[in-house]
Amino acid sequence: MRRSAILGTGFCVPDRIVTNDDLAGLMDTSDQWIRERTGIEQRHWVREGETSVDLALPAAQRALEAAGLTAKDIDAIVFATSSPDHFCPGNGVYLQRALGAGQLPALDIRTQCSGFVYGLSVADAWIRSGQFERILVVGQEIQSTGMDVSTDGRHVAVIFADGAGAAVLGPVDPSEGRGLLSFDLHSDGDHAEKLWVDAPGSMYHPRISVGQLEAGRQWLQMDGREVFRHAVTRMPESATAALTKAGYTWNDVSLLIPHQANLRISEAVQKSLKLRDDQVYNNIMRYGNTTSATIPIAMDECVRSGRLKRGDLLVLTAFGSGFMWGSAVIRW
Ligand code: UT7
Repeated sequence: MRRSAILGTGFCVPDRIVTNDDLAGLMDTSDQWIRERTGIEQRHWVREGETSVDLALPAAQRALEAAGLTAKDIDAIVFATSSPDHFCPGNGVYLQRALGAGQLPALDIRTQCSGFVYGLSVADAWIRSGQFERILVVGQEIQSTGMDVSTDGRHVAVIFADGAGAAVLGPVDPSEGRGLLSFDLHSDGDHAEKLWVDAPGSMYHPRISVGQLEAGRQWLQMDGREVFRHAVTRMPESATAALTKAGYTWNDVSLLIPHQANLRISEAVQKSLKLRDDQVYNNIMRYGNTTSATIPIAMDECVRSGRLKRGDLLVLTAFGSGFMWGSAVIRW
């Protein structure tokens, strides 16, 4: 039975940097509050008119280049986003069109912060089964256009940000040692409304009303404390389950990349797993929380800086809206 492996990674963030002081000019917040409660120092937000393709295409091209491939070598796209350009169609087809790689299948998945981990598991299964050879997995978000940037929305607006990360997956022989080894995936819809966007939605006719707009139902809503409480339990639990499934313990792990939700969440995860600083990578300080893009952005930084090397045992773990969460274990 063959395995899949990550052959190349890439990322792209908008060139517009938004500092904590910039946010303090929009709402009642401060650089000190944001740093102390979230670890975030700055984030990138799109300019008006920028689309998913503006972020996902450069990320995908960098991943292809790193893999020594071109768009013509790709057989399928798995596109994870919780903030699509349009209700329909999904973002995958816009990337397919921009890549100019022919009429590839393009699958959008809507599993929010866990989107990239879920996307890897789909691509891995497709490759293992022999259905496709090389798959582009993308996590991309434009959150900044969906947040209330007044003081009412400050607990959300200071966290979330825009960006894209991509990975190219292809088949490898298990004798090579490397590849995606195991997954652990979950959801719990009892908490669906703790981190959500109510409208527009097809349960409403029309899908959004003036009343809903006036009530701010189009903005991302979050019960921050509840999300925090579940995240710090679920991520260590799931990452350990995936590791056990792969036959390893935390002593074997070179690097954990946790979803970059809040630096305090990553620190709590590290503490509960008793990991050393060199075993955990965080970059939320520079990018904020880019939802499905945090893990591939961090992964690409680790590869390019030499923090992640051939033979390393890598663990990815994510938690977010749904609630949905999951982990992956990868021999790099
Ligand atoms: O991507 C995965 C999903 N998301 C997450 O994992 C996020 C999880 N949650 C969090 O990161 C944290 O809950 C937040 C950073 C969102 C909030 O931090 P917190 O320590 O849980 O603060 P809180 O919501 O309990 O609010 C504490 C105080 C409140 O004031 P009072 O009621 O104590 O007077 C808030 O109104 O801080 C206030 N506050 C702020 N003050 C300044 C909330 N947001 C801000 C802000 N600036 N941006």
